[in-house]
Amino acid sequence: MCGIIACRTAESAADYLRIGLRRLEYRGYDSVGVAIQTATGDIARVRTIERIDTLDRLLADWSGPAFAGAGLGHTRWATHGSVTESNAHPHNDCEDRISLVHNGIIDNADTLRASLTIAGHSFDSDVDSEVLCHLIEDRLQLCGDLFEAVRLALVEVEGSWGLAVLERGTGRIVVAANRCPLLVAHTPDGAFATSDIAAIADWVDEFRVLEDGDIVDLVSPPRWSRQEGIGASLPPVHRCAWRSTDAELNGYADHMAKEIDEQAELVSGALDSYGSRIADGSLWAEYGMEPFERLHVVGCGTSLNAGRVIANLVRRLGGIPVRCSTASEVADEIAEPGTLSLAISQSGETTDVLRALETPAVCETPMLALTNSAHSALARRADAVMLCGAGPEIGVAATKTFICQIVAGTALMISALVGMGRLTRAAAVDLVDDLRYLPDRLGHAGVKAKCVVPRIAEEISSASGMIFIARGNGIPYAAEGALKVKELTYCWAEHHSAGELKHGPLALIGVGTVVIVVDNDDPRLRANIAEVQSRGGRIVSIGRYADSTVQVASIPSAPWGPIESTVPLQILARSMAMSLGRDVDKPRNLAKSVTVE
Ligand code: G6P
Repeated sequence: MCGIIACRTAESAADYLRIGLRRLEYRGYDSVGVAIQTATGDIARVRTIERIDTLDRLLADWSGPAFAGAGLGHTRWATHGSVTESNAHPHNDCEDRISLVHNGIIDNADTLRASLTIAGHSFDSDVDSEVLCHLIEDRLQLCGDLFEAVRLALVEVEGSWGLAVLERGTGRIVVAANRCPLLVAHTPDGAFATSDIAAIADWVDEFRVLEDGDIVDLVSPPRWSRQEGIGASLPPVHRCAWRSTDAELNGYADHMAKEIDEQAELVSGALDSYGSRIADGSLWAEYGMEPFERLHVVGCGTSLNAGRVIANLVRRLGGIPVRCSTASEVADEIAEPGTLSLAISQSGETTDVLRALETPAVCETPMLALTNSAHSALARRADAVMLCGAGPEIGVAATKTFICQIVAGTALMISALVGMGRLTRAAAVDLVDDLRYLPDRLGHAGVKAKCVVPRIAEEISSASGMIFIARGNGIPYAAEGALKVKELTYCWAEHHSAGELKHGPLALIGVGTVVIVVDNDDPRLRANIAEVQSRGGRIVSIGRYADSTVQVASIPSAPWGPIESTVPLQILARSMAMSLGRDVDKPRNLAKSVTVE
């Protein structure tokens, strides 16, 4: 969703902001803007509701005073207020004395706006972020110091923020965070702040993540105000795992294609790194968690689908009751004793997941996070963190993080079951042996799918929608297949347990209706396929059977289900989207980091 970059550099800030905003592009945006201090000390503001190319052109054509080294940039994903230039960030105060970019939601924006209007401030936009600008302006008039003004203003604010404010004349930049990601880095190139390390990875080796309530003056060394008060230690230093080359396509047409192909190698690397620690229980022991009698998985979208695979495995191998909850609906759930909560989010910043951590069902239990971001809010709030190790995923619709979440979660849970005496080491060794074939099977599924699937996708891409069916441990994969089609093609796609077809959804099947079967060798699927065919439905089957439309090698009894089907399902969604002329890396209305409820 929205992205922030701020910098104080020796060279023109425009050069850094342009690169940084490109790196934020993958998160999705509908407007983009910068505010840059000029040689005369004024702030030049350039915003557009077009693409970053347009912003680049506007900056290249800039005929005003030269750009100096202090600036802010923002990509906006509209939530409050429509997509217009005046709603785009940065926002200015009444006197253009400060410019501000903001991620998050100001819960008391209406009240603040009303009182600021009475006090004489005039507003240019519909967005809640603008109230921050006027509030800081108001406090700045009183105290004359930007840092203090931000501190005083934020006392009045309810909600979430990652923000950066640039002051005219001084070029001073103050940043602050509360329940929104923001990090700062001091480098030989200058000082940077951003909501996403990808934006500044070209110049940064190390960074610190702001904790809730932190305010930082982007001077060197930074002036840092913490909720704990003077003397509180600074947040820990993290090393930057992103490299600028991560954003390169290396000959691929798009990041999604590249990231699908990376999956087999990532799984291989992950299994190598866990080594014997899975089967002897030591991987689990390293996390220092108590044994558990129940597992509660919490997540959204793709991560929840991965969580369902992990939950199925724990139930089947360990005989442990499991529950899977959509993060946005956990509030009414009841905490059960002996539960381990497993919160899953590739970004670690999904607001629904972070809110779920505050509900009784989760906060009254030990909580393990499974995420792709070691420095995310989810990782910081968890009792223990398992990283899924997918590396930077630039395609907005999750692909490799799904597979990596399943593999990391599977490894950890097998290890936990051994550690808790619910699975023998011998059984675990056999499972790990099976897992070792996974990279080859995923690679093979990719080769097979690339030969067969694009033609099928072309044929069915004119369908207005489709149904995915599966049984048992195939269901989460059908759910993920349907989700990928929805996200990328903008066509409806629903998934059902195949047994449910006859309880209603069969009414949707007519001549030519496309039904994708994720075939995990459950013999009952044959009857379901026949039900569809007898109504003229078109079956596309992904599985091991000789008559499957797309054959993939999988282990029929694997407790992690038909994971290999993921690759053809991803390729199907991508190929259909391409036939329809969609942007597969940046699908509409989808965000990599979903920071609104
Ligand atoms: C990707 C997925 C979505 C998901 C989003 C946030 O775009 O395709 O389904 O909602 O990431 O995922 P997260 O795992 O960070 O909660």
